[in-house]
Amino acid sequence: MPLKLPQIIGHRGCAGYVPENTLEAIHTAADMGLTWVELDVKLTKDQIPIIFHDPTLERVTNGSGNVADKTLAEIKELDCGSYYGESFTGIDIPTLEEAIDVLLERDLGINFELKPCSGRDKDTAEVALDLLSSIWDDHDSLLISSYSMEALEIAADMASDWARSLVIGKDGSQDWISALNTGSLPEDFLKIRKYLELSAVSIDQEFCSGLIIRELQNQDLCIIPYGVNEAQRAVELQHLGLKNFISDYPDEIEDCLLSVH
Ligand code: G3P
Ligand code: MG
Repeated sequence: MPLKLPQIIGHRGCAGYVPENTLEAIHTAADMGLTWVELDVKLTKDQIPIIFHDPTLERVTNGSGNVADKTLAEIKELDCGSYYGESFTGIDIPTLEEAIDVLLERDLGINFELKPCSGRDKDTAEVALDLLSSIWDDHDSLLISSYSMEALEIAADMASDWARSLVIGKDGSQDWISALNTGSLPEDFLKIRKYLELSAVSIDQEFCSGLIIRELQNQDLCIIPYGVNEAQRAVELQHLGLKNFISDYPDEIEDCLLSVH
């Protein structure tokens, strides 16, 4: 199905300016005039979907250990703002439900990236999509993405009308990275694309060579580069025909991109 994405999607909310994957990041994106954000979803030990990127807590919270070993009550005691700056102290990790409330309040479209902790691909997709399908009814403002083919397979099963994007980047398999580094798509890509009925690929901007972009364009896929944080790179990618960008610094790239209506 054709995807209607804006030119710029705020990465992890708006991670260049506020703590990533927080309600504050969603509000900041909306205040900056963005119309869509990307957020990562994973599960707590007690199977509650939360907005969080890493499998472990150390990088962005005052806690430690694996997210998958913590209950929601334990997760909610943590501070995920102070790593970014003192003025953000006290911010907590949002649940998926809390994030959806703010997205709806601010009238934002959403790219939910299913980011399962190891071995929890099926549960993460099922629980998150179950909740999402009970609340979100505008198909045009939702994109489900994941590195996990298992999670995308469940998405295709549970919510076939929702657009799906395969995330391609450094966390992928070594075979895929080797193929991309030589400027070609992995051998099994077409089979996977067809099987998962993908509308898009979300691809690390570092892999966006002219060759790769052309191959993906030939497959009639929407190509969404992420990590596009520098103006010059955004312009290069636009010249190569790309139209949608995921960025931590939306304002910096917006200023130099040609607006396309
Ligand atoms: O969804 C695109 C992008 O967010 C994938 O990378 O590691 O930032 O979640 P990551
Ligand atoms: Mg992500």
